[in-house]
Amino acid sequence: MTGSIDNLLHETRRFAPSEEFQANAVAHAELYERASADRPAFWGEQAQALLHWHTPFTKTLNWSNPPFAQWFEDGELNVAYNCLDRHVEAGNGDRIALNWEGEPGDSATFTYAELTADVKKAANVLLSLGIGQGDRVAIYLPMIPEAVISMLAVARIGAVHSVVFGGFSAESLRARIDDASAKLVITADGGWRKGKVSALKPAVDASLTIGGDENPSTVEHVLVVKRGNNDIDWHEGRDLWWHEQIAAAETEHEAQPFPAENPLFILYTSGTTGKPKGILHTSGGYLTQAAFTHLNVFDLHPETDVYWSTADVGWITGHTYVVYGPLANGATQVIYEGTPDSPHTGRWWEIIEKYGVTILYAAPTAIRTFMKLGRHIPDAFDLTSLRLLGSVGEPINPEAWIWYRDVIGAAKTPVVDTWWQTETGGMMISALPGVTTLKPGSAQVALPGIHIEVLDEQGTPVGKNSGGLLVVSEPWPAMLRGIWGDPDRFVETYWSTFPGKYFAGDGARLDRDGDFWLLGRVDDVMNVSGHRLSTAEIESSLVSHPKVAEAAVVGATDETTGQAVVAFVIVRSEDVGDGAAAGAEPDAAAIDALASELRAHVATQIGAIARPKKVFIVAELPKTRSGKIMRRLLRDVAEGRDVGDTTTLADTQVMKVISGTVR
Ligand code: PRX
Repeated sequence: MTGSIDNLLHETRRFAPSEEFQANAVAHAELYERASADRPAFWGEQAQALLHWHTPFTKTLNWSNPPFAQWFEDGELNVAYNCLDRHVEAGNGDRIALNWEGEPGDSATFTYAELTADVKKAANVLLSLGIGQGDRVAIYLPMIPEAVISMLAVARIGAVHSVVFGGFSAESLRARIDDASAKLVITADGGWRKGKVSALKPAVDASLTIGGDENPSTVEHVLVVKRGNNDIDWHEGRDLWWHEQIAAAETEHEAQPFPAENPLFILYTSGTTGKPKGILHTSGGYLTQAAFTHLNVFDLHPETDVYWSTADVGWITGHTYVVYGPLANGATQVIYEGTPDSPHTGRWWEIIEKYGVTILYAAPTAIRTFMKLGRHIPDAFDLTSLRLLGSVGEPINPEAWIWYRDVIGAAKTPVVDTWWQTETGGMMISALPGVTTLKPGSAQVALPGIHIEVLDEQGTPVGKNSGGLLVVSEPWPAMLRGIWGDPDRFVETYWSTFPGKYFAGDGARLDRDGDFWLLGRVDDVMNVSGHRLSTAEIESSLVSHPKVAEAAVVGATDETTGQAVVAFVIVRSEDVGDGAAAGAEPDAAAIDALASELRAHVATQIGAIARPKKVFIVAELPKTRSGKIMRRLLRDVAEGRDVGDTTTLADTQVMKVISGTVR
């Protein structure tokens, strides 16, 4: 990795903002000065300027009990009111909030007035089902308007949502329901994906019966949106149709104020252990940073821009930059249900042309996939409405950055590469498009009000032209407030490596200008297509298969998806014949069949995104003398490199055996 980053640091192309862009830009360089003069006061100004407070706050940051921060603690607000009603009251009720595009080509439009009305009814439905302040609601939906409506309805009544990505399995859903003791699940019969209906409700049914009668879930009701029209089972008394409940609901609902630190949502993300972490976010600080970054990084002009983030609401990007940031800012946006290649590979570009999208926010994996398919596909559409492009989720290599700007952005749009995490709640490192001279491949600079450093292992800041570990040195408003139900793990995971500083888990380098270059995770977290996956979680899924004795998983570099999941598995000898276990020539067909079976097993247990790209059946795993699996060697094998120095291995023969068995 160090070798390739050295090449990157020789990247010399620079793109200064055009005069025209600069002249109309929302953000100016003074923001940095104002923020560094007094960081909490700066965020206080933003919170006042960007949000409506039912009860104004008099305090900005309370950091008396680190790492448990409180922002704007004596203020009160309603998050949904900020995203909806206040825009209507300001005379913008007729502005389009959502242009929704279904995968098969159906569509729907919601003005701010219409979205507000729908969220009020949904809030009344939740109240009628006994959901109140602080209760947890699991949301397991496709990218349909009801996903946004549900999240805002939960927020409106001061309850807490836990959105579970629709690609996760019944078991993953149940683990999240149990961890948060969710009382209600909002789902759909199914949604459209890759040209057909993909069922969701059966996974909810399966998840709620896991463990049988001895293991009842905390769920009282399942609210079902009709989308796929697929056949589903119905549990009388528990299941309710969304459309019937909405039709019967009261239309008026007055948004009540809640404390700034009222929990807003839990979002589960993979960590270094097998158990996903429930990242907790609260209201006032989170919404402030969501609105501030969405406005300034995307140079949002709400009256004229049409914004599109391609993220699913099941991920943090979908929370902060589909729901909360854009709606708090009164933006007009597009949301799309399906995959980029359905029904044809020009689908994204067709949507941009149809709605006149001006700002696009997408992940590098998608860009690289389109690069491979060829520019003739986007060239067939009118993309001239685009004026700003954003990237998120993984490092964007300079070639993909340049292609994005040249081919999608007509060689003129700025590209902002935004670094942040589920835990940070909002963007932390990014250029400001009217201010920063852009450097392809670098996420560049900390945003105003954010203090980021790169430290060496001793905790000393590294100088320019050096690498180390990325930390956030000062509290920020959208920071996670904890891990649901596990304060010790919160302190241990993020705050113990460098006491008092937030350890992000990423490696980074500073170039000669002091700009940040992100190098990927330094822990056992993989990043596949911008989605976080835990090696430990996939390993434990593999080991739960009766034929598996031991498993090691690594993220191997992949041209398109950034990393790919590669598993090395030792099977119980009876399952592929003695040959494989003894390291002799195994039966090729039996190994292929077993590899497929194991890939499917992981997909069923965790979800399709975790399915290993390759499974290697091996006789041994390389371990150090202290018994630690040497993942570096496994990565070498997975990436087809010569196996390097093995002198620290307990048994230097081991890698030979593995390499010999790998097919
Ligand atoms: O490794 C970093 C990578 O994604 C991780 C966070 O993943 P998640 O919580 O799922 O959030 C993704 C969307 C914000 C980080 O630890 N990452 C995110 N953005 C970038 C990135 N790596 C490099 N450049 C980025 N712009």
